[in-house]
Amino acid sequence: MADNFKNFINGEWVEPSTGTYFENRNPAKQKDLIGHFPRSSREDVDRAVAAAKAAFPDWSRTPAPARGDILRRVGDLLTERKDEIAKAATREMGKTLQETRGDLQEGIDTAYYAGVEGRRLFGHTVPSELRNKWAMTYRRPIGVCGLITPFNFPLAIPTWKMFPALICGNTVVIKPAEDTPHTVALLIEVLEEAGIPKGVVNLVHGLGEEVGAAIVEHPDIPVISFTGSTETGSIIAQQCGRMHKRLSLEMGGKNAQIVLADADLDLAIDGVLWGAFGTTGQRCTATSRLLLQDEIHDEFVARLMERAKGLKLGYGLEKDVEVGPLIHEASLKKVEEYIEIGKGEATLAMGGERATGDGLDDGFFFQPTIFTDVKPGSRLATEEIFGPVLSVIRFGELDEAIRINNEVKYGLSSSLYTRDAVASFRAFQDLDNGITYVNAPTIGAEAHLPFGGVKQTGNGHREGGWEVYEFYSETKVCYLDYSGKLQRAQIDNYEASPY
Ligand code: UN1
Repeated sequence: MADNFKNFINGEWVEPSTGTYFENRNPAKQKDLIGHFPRSSREDVDRAVAAAKAAFPDWSRTPAPARGDILRRVGDLLTERKDEIAKAATREMGKTLQETRGDLQEGIDTAYYAGVEGRRLFGHTVPSELRNKWAMTYRRPIGVCGLITPFNFPLAIPTWKMFPALICGNTVVIKPAEDTPHTVALLIEVLEEAGIPKGVVNLVHGLGEEVGAAIVEHPDIPVISFTGSTETGSIIAQQCGRMHKRLSLEMGGKNAQIVLADADLDLAIDGVLWGAFGTTGQRCTATSRLLLQDEIHDEFVARLMERAKGLKLGYGLEKDVEVGPLIHEASLKKVEEYIEIGKGEATLAMGGERATGDGLDDGFFFQPTIFTDVKPGSRLATEEIFGPVLSVIRFGELDEAIRINNEVKYGLSSSLYTRDAVASFRAFQDLDNGITYVNAPTIGAEAHLPFGGVKQTGNGHREGGWEVYEFYSETKVCYLDYSGKLQRAQIDNYEASPY
């Protein structure tokens, strides 16, 4: 009998008010039942928000370096439990153990970065335009933050949101993806062990349209951070707009790797294999378009297919497995639909079917797939598939590649393989993305740099790095006038001026 898991509200593990649960199964081995997780309701969200609100006055006044000490301990505990939690993450999410260890490491790095940020959280001290007057800013916490996180980075993405929110002095209510609730439950265990005060972090499991919606609509949650599809992000944004909430969105991508004829082709092949088929293509940074310069197109495709055919599919905990399953049946179906669309638009060069046999029958496996002769502007070339499907597009000059890269509605990451310094800087300048790599794949953003995209990938905010702390705090401006008289800004200081 698999366990019934619980919500974590006000420092306690509690059953959902509904008494109902949903199943969480291993996407590589459907017979493997991980557990039953609470199918919570608005009532559970209300309780979690009330707890977070009650914890806010004390937590927000706790010195930021002391908040940082807790996050440092979180980093230590995640390091100690790295293997155990990575294994649990692979079991429920499907990507290989090497990748979930990377996911954990991203969380560990985020914990240590946030811990130290507790000793910075800089404001500015600025000269006043008047005599005997000071002007300065500092960063204030906002309140309860509602965090809604996806399945593909079950540990890292919750930490990207939660740790900066906490270090800034906010309290949180988190709803993890229903596909990966276990990893987040383990993260909460770690926070508990590290001594996070009760009510500061609350976990409510459930479905997006129930628990997610209740969080977004809750009047006592002024801040929402969401990573997921652009479609869901739009719905959330409408609601947040109506309620004047602060919102950070991290959504779709249609990321291109561009290879110029002068590139190191072996390096570029390594890059695209990792970018397109790592995480089974289920990253918002995944390489889903490969733009090849005419001269090298045919040779590159032939060599790439040779390598891609050798990729080993399987359960991510098994030895030598390189590509895991998709997350669930619906995702497989979506990929299959795109295969049909693609067949009408381009040439299916390899893959295109569910992967079966050899231990794969009980999981959501799909063959690494490559389409060639893909036309810019076609559905295959512009829509996010979120699976192991790569669309190859041919181009003549760099300008054309830049134009093709930019003519999609998303703008997360891009990559250019070349030995030409001038082309590299053209790419930095002209590729319309939040992140551009030269001689590295479109995936692999580092935790201490800002992360996010332009156009319909995001809404102007960044996660990671130093910028995320702006999102989770309000700037307070403080003036202190010690002149002992009324000084009128913009008037008294310019009275004697000839201008
Ligand atoms: C995501 O897919 O939502 O840059 C995040 C990367 C990872 C994060 C991906 N560090 O690919």
